[in-house]
Amino acid sequence: MALHRLPRVNAEYLEGGAEDERSLVANRQAFDEIEFQPRVLRDVSHIDLQRTILGATSSLPFAIAPTGFNGLLWHRGDLALARAAAFKGIAFAQSTVSNATIADVAVTPGLRHWFQLYLYAEDPVWERLLQQAATAGCEAIMLTVDSPVLGNREWDRRNYQSGFTPTFASKLDMLHHCRWMWQVLRHGIPSFPNLEQFVPGQDRSLYAVARWALANQRPQTDWTTVARIRKVWPGKLILKGVANMADVRAAMDAGLDGVVLSNHGGRQLDRSAVPLRLVRQARATVSSGFALLVDSGFRRGTDIVQALALGADAVLLGRAMLYGLAAGGEAGVQRAIDILAAEISRTLALLGLRSVDELSPEVFA
Ligand code: GLV
Repeated sequence: MALHRLPRVNAEYLEGGAEDERSLVANRQAFDEIEFQPRVLRDVSHIDLQRTILGATSSLPFAIAPTGFNGLLWHRGDLALARAAAFKGIAFAQSTVSNATIADVAVTPGLRHWFQLYLYAEDPVWERLLQQAATAGCEAIMLTVDSPVLGNREWDRRNYQSGFTPTFASKLDMLHHCRWMWQVLRHGIPSFPNLEQFVPGQDRSLYAVARWALANQRPQTDWTTVARIRKVWPGKLILKGVANMADVRAAMDAGLDGVVLSNHGGRQLDRSAVPLRLVRQARATVSSGFALLVDSGFRRGTDIVQALALGADAVLLGRAMLYGLAAGGEAGVQRAIDILAAEISRTLALLGLRSVDELSPEVFA
């Protein structure tokens, strides 16, 4: 439904990966490498899907991953994701390049609100964003570190002219998507309100802010910046986009609260390690209490169950939630969450397990 509804420029942004999309494909293939050896004749009449994530109870063992441009999939898409997450008792990670302010998302009743941080320009930019996240009551910061420069996404190069302006052909294609035009474009093109405040000049359009962001990437960022962020941010601090055990150890040594094993859904370094394959080793590397999250390629409840059994504390879902968003807004996200919850519950029952916390590598042995 989502792909039917969206114009090509947005559908390909959502679906696409970097370069030859080897990581994008490998992320999915890795789930086929492991098989379950289920136990039978166990009482599975009650299944408990709750999970403790970052020290607090989540009704399901996953959270909504930070993604940008959600407002181009559905009008006020970030708020729809936040409301669905709060309603279902899971956390929502808001992206720096979301189309809502931190404060707008924070008013969602009952929300576990995480904020994903990209670093741009000079330190005062992230310092101000962290102040805004603190004022809004965000529980955790996810600092994305796999994007010192933007991945080579050839779909986007075909669909946009320089500076993130859609090509004429992309604009023409939009005209063929009347429902999307009515639902999204009727309200105008959304901007990036969290970054607008830093952009000089009068033009605060999505394209102007995107151009500013591209021109103000910080490839010089290193662990000294992480140490400065750790010093000023009192809440949970998670490093997102880790694919190497040396960096997992460095994150622990830097006093962080966890990592997200991720190859950015195959959108950054093509042929970067598949996060699922790193989970077991990472579990053996980290101390208990250090959160081990994973994303990239998760589409089904069985996928999530595999990662948890290998030792992940929780899974982040990007595209899987965005299909729901683009198909039906808040109701669509709720539906996507329900589908995955039902699949996890059914998978546990078929494995002969009564709760998410009973999962261990024994399900493969
Ligand atoms: C942004 O993080 C993206 O992957 O497009």
